Amino acid sequence: MRLKKLLLINFKNLRQCEISLSEGINCFVGNNGAGKTNILDAVYYLSMSKSALTLTDGQSIMHGEEFFVTEGSYVNDEGREEVVNCSFSRRGGKVLKRNGKEYDRIADHVGQFPVVIVSPQDTELITDAAEERRRYLNAFTSQLDRRALQALMRYNAVLAERNKFLKMSSDESMLQIYDMQLAEHGTVVYQFRRDIVERMQPLVEEYYKVLSDDSEQVEISYRSELSDVPMQELLLRSRERDIVNQFTTAGIHRDDVIFRIGGYPLRKYGSQGQQKSFLIALKLAQYRLLAESTGEKPILLLDDLFDKLDMKRVERLLGLVAGDDFGQICITDCNKVRLEETLMRANRQYQLFDVDGGDVLL
Ligand SMILES: Nc1ncnc2c1ncn2[C@@H]1O[C@H](COP(=O)(O)OP(=O)(O)OP(=O)(O)O)[C@@H](O)[C@H]1O
Ligand SMILES: [Mg+2]
Repeated sequence: MRLKKLLLINFKNLRQCEISLSEGINCFVGNNGAGKTNILDAVYYLSMSKSALTLTDGQSIMHGEEFFVTEGSYVNDEGREEVVNCSFSRRGGKVLKRNGKEYDRIADHVGQFPVVIVSPQDTELITDAAEERRRYLNAFTSQLDRRALQALMRYNAVLAERNKFLKMSSDESMLQIYDMQLAEHGTVVYQFRRDIVERMQPLVEEYYKVLSDDSEQVEISYRSELSDVPMQELLLRSRERDIVNQFTTAGIHRDDVIFRIGGYPLRKYGSQGQQKSFLIALKLAQYRLLAESTGEKPILLLDDLFDKLDMKRVERLLGLVAGDDFGQICITDCNKVRLEETLMRANRQYQLFDVDGGDVLL
């Protein structure tokens, strides 16, 4: 999958721009605050119908404006052209169209135009609470398989109802009905997550080895209460506790993913560069799994390429993504000279865009 043209109106600090991208590497350079990350976020937005950075759609509307528009013209790996248009206005909400036709359900779009972003914000995956890692897994599994997204949405809906119910009543026959539904959808989500983490492990290991020149061993594992006890039984066991606490205390909404380096928790024992390399390996593994399942090479977004990496690791990363497994890439950096020198040393062709105060110049 590749993006041929990107059109933006009022997307954050980008008032109006039209960018024709090249097939290979596209570099966006400019000073801090110029709008480089916002461009990558717009590309992400078109694929996921939400920002990788802001929590609400409203935050992506340029200050003082009423709406934003993003539009992408794509060519898939078979050469078919497609246009995705996503707009959001404060009054009318979100409208998402593919080739001029509005989607009935926005969820149907996710995964059709695969994208993977590597950004400095990824460190939240290591430093923040389990919720952040679940959010990541959810977004990833949703891109991989629509059934995972559906099961998750149903699980969350029943969970919210069950929690509301627990605040008013402890009627066990009603709880039994909720539990049956939670168990059904929760088990599906559990299986997707378990499967995905299992498939990621060897890839993360492989990529980390290349990035670090084989210096450390890394591990990713899935932690869920469902590994030991089936969901229905888990809910039964925690029922009394749930009634006392007035919310659901067990289930896949408490899952976590554990990262380790040299056998120790990455968060405590990994250096900043090691953590960053781990996150890149994780994202490249995600890329590979997405490519396998969709049959399309995702668009790879590398925000702030040099963030926390030494020059050797940047070069090894560029070497990795130069391979046949990868397709179109968008890179940002605030230092044009450094980026150009590095790409030239890596012997890579690229297209350069200067970003300045929300304007993009070729
Ligand atoms: N909704 C919005 N309306 C207008 N401007 C916004 C909005 N959201 C963010 N911005 C502005 O966009 C700019 C940040 O853009 P961006 O994060 O893309 O910068 P950058 O070029 O990636 O910078 P850096 O090199 O520091 O990463 C900031 O000046 C910020 O105030
Ligand atoms: Mg940035």
